[in-house]
Amino acid sequence: MKCIRVETRGNSEVLTCQDIPKPDCASGYLLLKVIAAGINFADIMQHRGTYPLQLPLPYTPGMEVIGIVEVIGGNVTDRRLGERVAAVSFEAGGYAEYITVRPEQAIPLPPEIDAHTALALLIQGLSAYLLLTHAAKIRSGESIMVHAAAGGVGSFLVQLAKLMHTGDVFGTAGTLEKRQKISNWGVDYPINYNEPNWHKTVLEITSGKGIDVIFDPVGGDAITQNLSCLGVEGRFVSYGWLSGNYPALTQTQCQSLLFNNQSVSGFAVNVVMERHPDIVGAALAQLFTWVQMNQLHPILGQVFPLKDAAKAHAAIASRTTMGKVILQVD
Ligand SMILES: NC(=O)c1ccc[n+]([C@@H]2O[C@H](COP(=O)([O-])OP(=O)(O)OC[C@H]3O[C@@H](n4cnc5c(N)ncnc54)[C@H](OP(=O)(O)O)[C@@H]3O)[C@@H](O)[C@H]2O)c1
Repeated sequence: MKCIRVETRGNSEVLTCQDIPKPDCASGYLLLKVIAAGINFADIMQHRGTYPLQLPLPYTPGMEVIGIVEVIGGNVTDRRLGERVAAVSFEAGGYAEYITVRPEQAIPLPPEIDAHTALALLIQGLSAYLLLTHAAKIRSGESIMVHAAAGGVGSFLVQLAKLMHTGDVFGTAGTLEKRQKISNWGVDYPINYNEPNWHKTVLEITSGKGIDVIFDPVGGDAITQNLSCLGVEGRFVSYGWLSGNYPALTQTQCQSLLFNNQSVSGFAVNVVMERHPDIVGAALAQLFTWVQMNQLHPILGQVFPLKDAAKAHAAIASRTTMGKVILQVD
């Protein structure tokens, strides 16, 4: 079968298209014929070697696929050959014509949800929903800041915030074109984070009150600007480090958190998936319903053929993409 392999750590050129044997379907597993695979920023950090949980080399990247059940392994009940499923696999293997997954990793897809929309919802849409509801426990009317608002998770945070009746939505994006797009999706105040004093602009807009909840996938030095525009009783939720660095807190910042009843917390979608499958099931059902009711419009970005995975990763790394980027396999 055709698949993408990573044999050394490095930039996107380490992704090569190869022919390897189709995997056997062991007892307790399903063999899926992959229709399309989703790309997540973590896939890029993985081959760069900047992801904390490193997959051993060589490996096939890809944490999410839409596929058709082609073989059902022994001891698997209640599954159907030919069923179209969405599957998440944190052990990777999705950039390939076939993947084996455990049945509990594969969710049957409603027929009305097309493969690309499902891929957008699977990790990025789900993460955005859980960031708002599970991590930040957002309350109606609270203002939020969405960094990387034109990206995969960011574009969902913006739309879901409006569906959940938050207050003002601030969003950052690196180009004018992206800032125009995020305004169309629901951002009330598009912010250019390349302006070093963007946090002062936020304080001016909020009459000095600052923001209730900041969602941060960037990390690094921007923690200083972020905390300086976080409101009293505000929550800062860290869920990624696009900058390549974790945020580091100074003693003064810790004091300020205490005296302003603020909190800093972290979020990882895989932890919720492992510990709270019921919450994840309900969240996906809600996302599918909003899409079917035409209330949520996943932003579908570029689609690349499987063999061009390296080009797709280079496009994301160069910050030229918006929304969900997909590899078409079948
Ligand atoms: N913790 C979790 O459970 C979880 C789940 C899903 C995703 N994530 C994290 O969420 C973040 C977003 O993931 P995604 O897959 O949705 O990616 P993405 O946002 O679609 O892609 C990256 C975008 O981030 C922006 N960006 C800002 N600073 C950047 C930097 N220093 N380097 C590169 N891009 C930068 C760029 O937009 P601009 O042009 O506007 O800068 C770029 O287009 C990643 O950190 C990812 O690891 C975490």
